[in-house]
Amino acid sequence: MTNQYGNAYLESIVPIVNEIRQLKKEKNAVVLSHYYMSPLLQISEDQGGISDFVGDSLGLSLEAKNVKADNIVFCGVTFMAETAYILNPKKNVYIPDMDAGCSLASSITAADVEKLRLEYPGIPVIAYINTYAETKAVCDICCTSRNAVKIASSFDSDKIIFIPDKFMGKNLSNSFKSALNKDFIIWNGRCEVHEQFLENIDSLMTTYPAAEVLLHWEVPDTTVDMALAKGHGIVGSTADLIKHVQDTDIKQFILASECDLGATMKGMFKDKQFITPCITCNYMKKINLQNTLDTLRAIGTEDEYKYMISLDPSIMEKAAIPINKMIEMS
Ligand code: 13P
Ligand code: SF4
Repeated sequence: MTNQYGNAYLESIVPIVNEIRQLKKEKNAVVLSHYYMSPLLQISEDQGGISDFVGDSLGLSLEAKNVKADNIVFCGVTFMAETAYILNPKKNVYIPDMDAGCSLASSITAADVEKLRLEYPGIPVIAYINTYAETKAVCDICCTSRNAVKIASSFDSDKIIFIPDKFMGKNLSNSFKSALNKDFIIWNGRCEVHEQFLENIDSLMTTYPAAEVLLHWEVPDTTVDMALAKGHGIVGSTADLIKHVQDTDIKQFILASECDLGATMKGMFKDKQFITPCITCNYMKKINLQNTLDTLRAIGTEDEYKYMISLDPSIMEKAAIPINKMIEMS
C-alpha cells in the first residue's frame, strides 16, 4: 500500500487488513465503498486493500444489484446500504456503524411527502437517493446526482416536487432552466457538508486564479453561481467531476465536495493538484477499518444484528418501485 499514511501507522493496520481479507473469503462477503470513505477503505483487494468496488451512489446501487456473494458489507451511509438491500433482498447487507446517517436523508419523512402531495396534487415527486426507504416508498421515482437531469426531463408535467436537497434543486433548475422548462417545488433539506462551501471557495479562487472549481450539485446555489460567473467551474455529480478531471488538460482544481474525494482524485490523477477547504462528512467517517473488521467477525453470529440492515417488507416492496424506475432509466 502506498499512500499518505506514515509507515508506523500502516504497519499497525496490516493485521486488520489481513483479517478482513481472510474473513471476506470465509464468510463469502464483498465490501462496497463510497468515494467519500477514508482512502484506506477505498484500496481494492488487488492493490492489497479490502474493497471489491468503489463508486458513487449510483455506481454502488448498480453494483449491489448484481452481487453474487451472500453478504455485502457496505462502507458508506445507511441510506445507501438500505438501497443495496432493496435492490438485492436475498443478500444480507451490513453497515459497520448504524449511526452513519445523512443530514439530507433525515430532513424529510414519508408524512412530509404526503403533505406535499396534498398541497400540490398531481405533481410528480422525485426523491434524491439520499432519503430513507420509508420516504422513497411514497415517491414516484428516485434520482442520484448523476441522473437527476435525465429523470427530471422525463416528466411531461411543468412542475416537479424535488426532495430533499434545497441547493441541488435550485442548481438543477438554474442550470437547466431552458432545457427542463419546469418549476421546481423544493424541500428545505441541506447537506451539512456541502452547505459549508461559501466564501471559502471564493477566497481559494482568489489565491489560485488558474484553478478550475469542481462543485457538487449539493453546494449552495450562490457559490455555484459565483464560480460559474467567473468562468472557472463546473457543477455536477461525483462521477461527473471525476470524468471532467480525466477529460481536461487543466492541472489544478479547487474541490467543493467531501475532503476525501480530493484524496481519491489525487490517487487517480497523480499529475493533477486538488485544493480543498477539506470539509469531511462525519457520517461517512463513522466507518473505519476496525468496525469493518468487527462487522465481518459478527456475520453468522448472534451479534450480526447490530450491523444488519433490516426493513419492513412492505416498505421494501414500495421503495423498490421508484428505485427500479430510476435504474431502468440509468
Ligand atoms: P453521489 O451520488 O455523487 O455519490 O453523492 C452522494 C452524496 O452523499 C453526496 O454528498
Ligand atoms: Fe449526506 Fe452530505 Fe454526508 Fe453526502 S456528504 S452523506 S449528503 S451529509
